[in-house]
Amino acid sequence: MPTERTRSEYRLALVVEPAAASFGALTVRLIERGDRVAAAQLLLSAYRGTIDDEGEDDEAALDAIDHYFTHIIWPSSFVVLDGMQLVAMSLVVIVDEHHYIDPVATASSHKGRGIGRAAVTESLRSLASTGVVDVGATITDGNTASERLFAGLGFARVGEWV
Ligand SMILES: CC(C)(COP(=O)(O)OP(=O)(O)OC[C@H]1O[C@@H](n2cnc3c(N)ncnc32)[C@H](O)[C@@H]1OP(=O)(O)O)[C@@H](O)C(=O)NCCC(=O)NCCS
Repeated sequence: MPTERTRSEYRLALVVEPAAASFGALTVRLIERGDRVAAAQLLLSAYRGTIDDEGEDDEAALDAIDHYFTHIIWPSSFVVLDGMQLVAMSLVVIVDEHHYIDPVATASSHKGRGIGRAAVTESLRSLASTGVVDVGATITDGNTASERLFAGLGFARVGEWV
């Protein structure tokens, strides 16, 4: 029997606008509706083999993106491109009047290079510039990469996500 996954909530007091992150040769821009298919492929690539992998297929990933596209805060949701390839994204949603990063995802080919953290930094800068002072994230317990990404940005665990 698989063990039941648990999630925790993390929050950041966004008192200072974070310094701009470096994207090197990559480019960062706001997500657009035309990114739908590439964003779905990115989700599949990012989550495959992780603790949150539920074996989703193309259709499930497209459904997930369509759902995000009805919820995200477009002016604070970014994608990162390597040439034409969409390699990371940081989306922002509002739950119970609080802003959350959901999700951050980096393509398997581009993990571990600081791109996920840089993408979230871009979202945080955008939120800070509009006066948002409180940002959350929910992370599956044991998702070490995500836990470290958010800890490095100053997020602190506030409790179990129910
Ligand atoms: C979580 C995720 C976005 C991280 O993206 P990334 O671009 O590889 O992250 P970064 O390179 O910016 O690294 C951020 C931190 O995570 C650490 N990290 C990255 N991959 C790791 C891994 N596999 N194991 C442990 N730590 C890892 C990095 O070392 C870094 O921490 P440090 O600065 O303390 O050393 C990526 O692994 C992913 O897409 N996972 C699947 C989707 C997901 O789980 N999203 C989070 C939902 S809340």
